[in-house]
Amino acid sequence: MLEVRDLRLQYGGIQAVKGISFDVAQGELVALIGANGAGKTSTLKALARMLPQATGKVCLNPANQPAVDLMQLPAHELIAQGVALVPEGRGVFSRQTVLENLQLGAFRVKDRQLVQQRLEDLLERLPRLKERASQLAGTLSGGEQQMLAIARALMSGPQLMLLDEPSMGLAPIMVDRIFELITSARDSGVSILLVEQNARLALKVSRRAYVLESGRITLTGNSTDLLQDDRVRAAYLGEVIP
Ligand SMILES: Nc1ncnc2c1ncn2[C@@H]1O[C@H](COP(=O)(O)OP(=O)(O)O)[C@@H](O)[C@H]1O
Ligand SMILES: [Mg+2]
Repeated sequence: MLEVRDLRLQYGGIQAVKGISFDVAQGELVALIGANGAGKTSTLKALARMLPQATGKVCLNPANQPAVDLMQLPAHELIAQGVALVPEGRGVFSRQTVLENLQLGAFRVKDRQLVQQRLEDLLERLPRLKERASQLAGTLSGGEQQMLAIARALMSGPQLMLLDEPSMGLAPIMVDRIFELITSARDSGVSILLVEQNARLALKVSRRAYVLESGRITLTGNSTDLLQDDRVRAAYLGEVIP
């Protein structure tokens, strides 16, 4: 679904992403883990075309549609290509209601019946949001806002969802709910690139993962293998290796 080759990104003199390559298959959940400052957010923003100075090849190959190089497209066309970014810190419209936020997520979808169907399905699965449908998004708890941000992204019917630190600052019970939503999106066929500082969680839910260190991918493999890897355990899982 997604093929990234030699992605590079510079801020002034700082090289934040130093030529990385990775893939996400259709319906696959892939994690990108790494310490604070490793370049995870920069990578997602580059894929979402929010950083026009980024270079490299970012090929999207949706099922039954021609391949496109995202780097040739402006940011506002990504939604039409089926790419949805859920940024760090959520970014819901706090002065709009929960329902309005969800409807805005589908603003590009012309088929109103389809939008209504998606809305009903999501609200059925997310009773916390359903109960709060007419509340302003800014009045929700952090976890509920994260849930809303992901649900809003799903309203666009994405092929590829880019998630930046969805567990950040949330209580464990909310983290479980958020990850249920993420894995059910994957099960319905959405390809997902998950960025997490919580490496244990990311490795538990993903099939494969890439470890990013100072803008370079230093390790990659099946997530179950990486959970056992001494380097990963020492550096990212806080385990003491005898
Ligand atoms: N807007 C910016 N201007 C300059 N440097 C930045 C900017 N955003 C991030 N950086 C730097 O790029 C590097 C990677 O940051 P970031 O992608 O946010 O890492 P992560 O998400 O893994 O914590 C860091 O050294 C950070 O200080
Ligand atoms: Mg970040």
